[in-house]
Amino acid sequence: MENKRVATLTLDDGRSIELPIVSGTLGPDVIDIHNLGKLGVFTYDPAFFSTASCTSAITFIDGDAGLLYYRGYPIEQLAAQSDFLEVCYLLLNGQLPDAGQKASFKKKVTSHTMVHDQMAKFFNGFRRDAHPMAVMVGVVGALSAFYHDSLDINNPEHRDLSAMRLLGKVPTIAAMAYKYHAGFPFIYPKNKFSYVENFMYMMFATPAEEYVPNPKLVRALERIFILHADHEQNASTSTVRLAGSSGANPFACIASGIAALWGPAHGGANEAALNMLEEIGDVSRVAEYVQGVKDKKYRLMGFGHRVYKNMDPRAAVMRETCYEVLQELGLENDKLFKLAMELEQIALHDPYFIERKLYPNVDFYSGIVLRALGIPTNMFTVIFAVGRTIGWISQWNEMMADSDRKIGRPRQLYLGADRRDYIPVEQR
Ligand code: CMC
Repeated sequence: MENKRVATLTLDDGRSIELPIVSGTLGPDVIDIHNLGKLGVFTYDPAFFSTASCTSAITFIDGDAGLLYYRGYPIEQLAAQSDFLEVCYLLLNGQLPDAGQKASFKKKVTSHTMVHDQMAKFFNGFRRDAHPMAVMVGVVGALSAFYHDSLDINNPEHRDLSAMRLLGKVPTIAAMAYKYHAGFPFIYPKNKFSYVENFMYMMFATPAEEYVPNPKLVRALERIFILHADHEQNASTSTVRLAGSSGANPFACIASGIAALWGPAHGGANEAALNMLEEIGDVSRVAEYVQGVKDKKYRLMGFGHRVYKNMDPRAAVMRETCYEVLQELGLENDKLFKLAMELEQIALHDPYFIERKLYPNVDFYSGIVLRALGIPTNMFTVIFAVGRTIGWISQWNEMMADSDRKIGRPRQLYLGADRRDYIPVEQR
């Protein structure tokens, strides 16, 4: 149906243009400024505060209401009732699988959990104290050197094969990054386990010690993966899309997403939040620390979000999981957890945070859960990357399937020098 609604933009010299107003299934309308360049002007929107960079049918967020849907399903329902691989299928294919589709998807992913044996040699090139995210960026990017048979990005079968390879191998590489850092031998994947059990097995088993996964802890990590699986056009996903828009191969694109995720304003926040709790150290120091935040000496990590101006719905689920895990492990009186709860309460009732709509985000609680699971702090963002890989692949795939896709190319407002003539060095 033809869209008849328009917004009229009139410049100060009287020229004007009618811009179509487009409605999505949910969420605010957007003004399509595609043709604005014809007037010889561009829009200026650094950090994309008011700009939709693409259309997508994967994830919906209503930040004011605190809603997050994957393919229409509320995150709370998926976290409570689904499992990670089913969520992966949903994000990738748009529908929940039936029992047969679910089993064959698991089989497909599972058949790609091992990495080429040559890959193990890559790790030796890194210092043992290298940050595991640095290792992830390098080794995931290196996958593109191994799978020349599936790099035709215009072939849907190749894209599917790359998706299965990434989904299968990223946890293996993540666990190898941990083992290398810790000085333990690598543990090969075991396909009798579920996706999440297998990851925990590769992380925690040693050749000397059998690892028996605890179902409650597996469930907690499964939830972390589900909650982090996708989050529409965030910084890392936009990075993956921009890299992909040039026709770069999917392994290189996902490596670029991992690099963007690393920053403390994005996926690095879970590590930063736990480091912050450790730095505060004691409940008695919380008030003083909060004062430092209000004096803008530093930020309260794990608080605030560009889109959520209400409770992050993922945080509500993670908070519950936090209680379950600590109870299961007999850690209800954990010092950092108590400190986090005190910090949460002070911040939730303080006008500084209320006025700025700063609520705890998912990373405020996920760090406490990951720490209780025995995962070292510098692996937290790696865990986020393992969960988010499916979101990056799904968004990349959605973009590549669009026959109308174009290379992403933002414009700029130039503030540099005007034209000037070159002066030879002896005359300067
Ligand atoms: N602590 C203290 N003040 C804050 C915080 C915070 N965590 N976040 C924002 N503010 C203040 C900020 O100083 C500013 O105040 P004022 O108006 O007085 O200048 C106001 O709130 C708006 O901040 P902003 O930087 O313009 O907001 P943004 O939308 O650009 O930033 C954010 C979003 C997530 C980068 C920011 O909230 C932040 O740095 N949070 C801490 C890092 C964090 O937890 N990130 C994880 C996000 S969830 C995981 C993910 O999806 O990646």
